[in-house]
Amino acid sequence: MSFTYRMGVLHADDVALPAIAEAVGTPFYCYSATLIAHRYRAFAQALADLSPTICFALKANGNQAVVRTLADLGAGADVVSEGELFRAIAAGVPPSRIVFSGVGKTKAEIRTALEHGIWQLNAESLPELDALSEVATALGRTAQIVLRVNPDVDAKTHAKISTGKKENKFGIDWDHVRDAYARAAALPGVEPLGLAVHIGSQLNDLAPFRAAFTKLAEMVAALRADGHTVSRLDLGGGLGVSYRGDAPPDLAGYARIVRETVGGLGCHLAFEPGRWMVADAGVLVARTTYVKDGTTRRFLILDAAMNDLIRPALYEAWHEIRPVREPAADATIAPVDVVGPVCETGDTFAVGRPMPPVEAGDLVAFMNAGAYGAVMASTYNARPLLAEVMVRAERFAVVRPRQTIAEMIAADRLPPWIEAPAAPGAD
Ligand code: LLP
Repeated sequence: MSFTYRMGVLHADDVALPAIAEAVGTPFYCYSATLIAHRYRAFAQALADLSPTICFALKANGNQAVVRTLADLGAGADVVSEGELFRAIAAGVPPSRIVFSGVGKTKAEIRTALEHGIWQLNAESLPELDALSEVATALGRTAQIVLRVNPDVDAKTHAKISTGKKENKFGIDWDHVRDAYARAAALPGVEPLGLAVHIGSQLNDLAPFRAAFTKLAEMVAALRADGHTVSRLDLGGGLGVSYRGDAPPDLAGYARIVRETVGGLGCHLAFEPGRWMVADAGVLVARTTYVKDGTTRRFLILDAAMNDLIRPALYEAWHEIRPVREPAADATIAPVDVVGPVCETGDTFAVGRPMPPVEAGDLVAFMNAGAYGAVMASTYNARPLLAEVMVRAERFAVVRPRQTIAEMIAADRLPPWIEAPAAPGAD
């Protein structure tokens, strides 16, 4: 689709990746606006009969060009910090389509969100309910909230990205939900409109969604029986993508589960997809610095490292690594360890990965890197934040220039008790 070999070279839409490497250097992220739009439309279409609010989870990719591409198609935003709130607003997402989630919203963040009149705040605990009430009352406003509940459902995904079990920090304990809702209904300054649930990320098995949404529907019935109004359900994100060529989760199947479990409750539905919208629409392109043969292993040492793409180090995540120059059909496939230059053994992208021959100077592309890639990058080992590029059809544009070393250093300040170093050349 958007990332294919043409005439022996990997392209993003109609642009050859080596042409971008020539222009911006390596490593860089490259996003396809075409594929992002395609994904958004597919999601919106699959759920169209439910007229939902689709809030792109900015944590997956907060680049202004990406968020703006989605906002132009009608997407809202799911944000988890004041920074993401401002990123969403700056990219043109109307506050009337912004949801603020997260377990630790500070009073300052709550105030900012209320001042901007966002659509919904998701409360995740009793102390947070009190904070919401206090801040909203002081502002003379009513916060439209939903309670994020923890349904104690196993998402069957990586432990570090599971959020819906009772031992996870997220959401209000299932057994406390009715009391919390009653409390919210009684508090000044807040108006509880419904419930939110997000059980984890990268779900490829749809069964946990069914389990969670079924429990949610039961809770809606219980709350209504308690005499409350429940008019809104936020079903979170979590829909997985295919990193290893396995069958991707079925969007139509997901939509069917939604319809069957909560579709008939008369609630307005919201969704917070992140990864599904953008993961497949991005690649990380790196250049091979050396091919090093050890006694037992061959290492491809790239100019990208764990600071640029941390998913393999943090979650043992698997990303397909493709040579940008198409390998010959009869190329010998041999195992290599693909690593970066950072001084940590954990700076390893793949171990024993069967790969066609790659030589020093060759470009490789990490596939499905559009979500949780650039947003999780750091400057560890004093490696400047990398460049981000967007393509659409035959055009490409830098959507974040590579940070310069000078910019990186200039972010630091000396305390007043240290004399600034003499300017070079000064006596
Ligand atoms: N809503 C809430 C409340 C969330 O916590 C998340 C993700 C999402 C929506 C979006 O989920 P998605 O549709 O992207 O699965 N850095 C990890 C993923 C962390 C996900 C955190 N929460 C990774 O690289 O796999």
